[in-house]
Order: sequence, then C-alpha cells, then structure tokens
Amino acid sequence: MTETRKPLLATLLGEATWPPPVWLMRQAGRFLPEFRALREKAGFLTRCMTPDMAVDITLQPVRRFGMDGAILFSDILILPWAMGQSLDFVAGRGPVLEPVRSLADMERLDPGRVAQAVQPVMETLKRLRAIVDGPEPIGPAQPGQVTLIGFAGAPFTVACYMVEGHGSREFEETRRLAYTDPEFFNRLIDLLTTSTADMLCAQIEAGAEAVMLFDSWSGLLPPSQFRQHVIEPARRITEIINTRHPGVPVIGFPRLAGIMAVEYGQRTGVNALALDTGADMKTLAEKLPATLVLQGNLDPIRVLAGGEGMRQEARAIRDAMKGRPHVFNLGHGVIPTTPPEHVGDLIKTIRAV
Ligand code: CP3
Repeated sequence: MTETRKPLLATLLGEATWPPPVWLMRQAGRFLPEFRALREKAGFLTRCMTPDMAVDITLQPVRRFGMDGAILFSDILILPWAMGQSLDFVAGRGPVLEPVRSLADMERLDPGRVAQAVQPVMETLKRLRAIVDGPEPIGPAQPGQVTLIGFAGAPFTVACYMVEGHGSREFEETRRLAYTDPEFFNRLIDLLTTSTADMLCAQIEAGAEAVMLFDSWSGLLPPSQFRQHVIEPARRITEIINTRHPGVPVIGFPRLAGIMAVEYGQRTGVNALALDTGADMKTLAEKLPATLVLQGNLDPIRVLAGGEGMRQEARAIRDAMKGRPHVFNLGHGVIPTTPPEHVGDLIKTIRAV
C-alpha cells in the first residue's frame, strides 16, 4: 500500500495536487464567534501561553471548515516578548511595546531566555501534532489530512514593532534608524535572524510540519534594503532550517514586495512563496522556477463581500495555477468582520472541481 501524504504537506514539497489544498491566514481569530467567546475570558498573551486554550483556538477553524492546514495560534511578537521586551495587547490599539532604539536598549534583551519562555508554545504544538495525526476526524477533516503549520515574524517586520513600539502605516522611526544607526539596526536584524531560526527549529522539533515566515512590512523597503533586511535574513533562516531539519518546507511571505517577490523567490531558498493580494500570480509564476510552490492570494475583502463574485474570483485563481504546486490562501489575513458562512462557502468552492 502506498502511503497517502497530507495534501498540504505534499504540495509544499512540490507536488501539484488538484484541487489545491486550502487554508487561510488569520483563520484562528476574531471572525469566529467561538474565538470571541474565549477572548472575554483571557487576555491575548494568556491565550497564546496556555496550551489548553491555544490548542482549542488553533483547531476552531478546522473543526468548522476542515481546512488542510492548522496554523499555530500564537503571534509574531512572542519572540521579542520572550527576550524580555515588555509587550501588551491593548484593545482597539493593537500591540504596545517598550521601544528598542539603540545598542544599549538591545543589551537589555536576552535571547538566552527564549527557549524557556516559549515552552508553553512548544507544548501546544506537541499536543496539536498528536491530535492532527490521531485517529479522530477534526470536524469535516478526515484523520491524517491536516498539516500543522508553525510560524514566526521575519526579522524586518518584528524589528518594525520592536523599534516603533506599536503598529504604524510607515514605521518611519524604524526606517530612519536603519539609515542613521546601521550598526544598531544590522545587529538587531542579526539577533532576530538567529533567534527566529532557533525558534522555528524548536517549533519543528515540537511537531510543526511546515513553517511560515511573515514579513508583513517588507514592501516598505527600497530594493537595496530589501535585499539586505528581507532576502538575506530569509535565506539564512531557511538555510539553518534546511540544515537542521531537511525536508521541512518553509513558506516565505514578503508582503507588498511587488516585483521584488521574484528575487525573494529565486534567492531565499524557500519552498513556497506566499503572495499578497496585489500580486498577479500568473505573471509572477512565469518568472519563477516551476518547482517553487506559490501560495495565495484572494483578496480578504472578497471573502468579506462573499457571494458569486467571491466564488468566481476564487475559481479563477485556482484554475490559473492548475498544473503547478499551489496552496490556495488569501492575500492577507481574514478580516474580523467576515461572516463565517463566507469562509465555509469559499472552502467548498475551492474543492468543487
Ligand atoms: O490564525 C492565524 O493566522 C494564527 C495566529 C496569528 C496571529 N497573529 C494571531 C493574532 C498569526 C499568524 C499572526 C501573525 C501576525 N501578528 C502578523 C503577521 C501577519 C499579518 O497579519 O500581517 C503581525 C504583523 C502580527 C502583529 C499583531 N498581532 C498585530 C498588529 C495585532 C493587532 C492587530 C490585529 O490584527 O488584531 C496582533 C494581535 C493578534 N494576533 C490577534 C490575533 C488573533 C488579535 C488579538 C485579539 O484581539 O484577540
């Protein structure tokens, strides 16, 4: 008997499966009433750091819709928090951190604390892996079908929040410091590169079957800095993962990179390139090696809007990628006000071939 591989994992390793596997960025989150109910009970960091809750939240969307992937419920800012930077999630404002803006500020961070501090996250992954590989179906997902995805923020995006101290449209202070104090900024990127690689390897050791690197703000950088602070760190992180855990696929998401996504796909060594809403996947596909898996990229607002328009566009993206390894996903996270029925309808549409 030949062993049937999990569809998402097989695709991330280069197989062109049909219909494509599907999961959604930010699928574990506020658009689900069962997530909002837990939110009343505990703060965000508590939810991330309590394995019972994090396991439950990770599986909520899979139980409802049977996605091919379950993405760990956590956050990209857990890494700076684990190094000792103060972090708070303030309702209506998002994350608030004590800014790190100099070598002296950086000295106060301790990467040696990370492994211990993220222990609950590893426990969550361990339990999740036992569940996804267990004998029970998870909602409509059959046993042995769901791939467990770990993740981290990419160094540049995490540096944006660490330096700025909060979300921003432009991250001006971060980008200014990259020019005026390159010694500090390069060392911060370096520290994040090694600690992110270590954390992703720990996630793999705990049970993650694939990992994703979110570079949500990479598109803010000009090409020279994009090469230095986005491509080079992603290349180093992928190389470390490939060395320590050969065969575990890495997904890179250089959001808003435009044409620089091509160079990212060619030079980082990632197995899969996640594309944002603005990317013309077909045009980019022609410029990229046929072995590079593409992931994306339906407009999250299309899912908020729903209906026949959503179904048509979802099919168009799926069909345009037929014949090459493609993971269906959105171009960015699910919008919190999205009606859950629209997500159910989307998953069904992708699978109806
Ligand atoms: O379902 C999933 O995708 C898994 C969990 C996940 C979260 N954040 C949970 C979360 C993932 C993969 C992330 C990644 C993340 N976090 C990114 C990169 C992806 C992206 O969206 O660009 C970034 C930039 C962050 C930082 C962050 N975390 C912000 C800016 C915020 C506040 C704004 C927002 O989107 O809510 C968070 C909080 C956060 N992370 C929530 C969730 C479910 C909301 C917390 C709550 O209010 O309950």
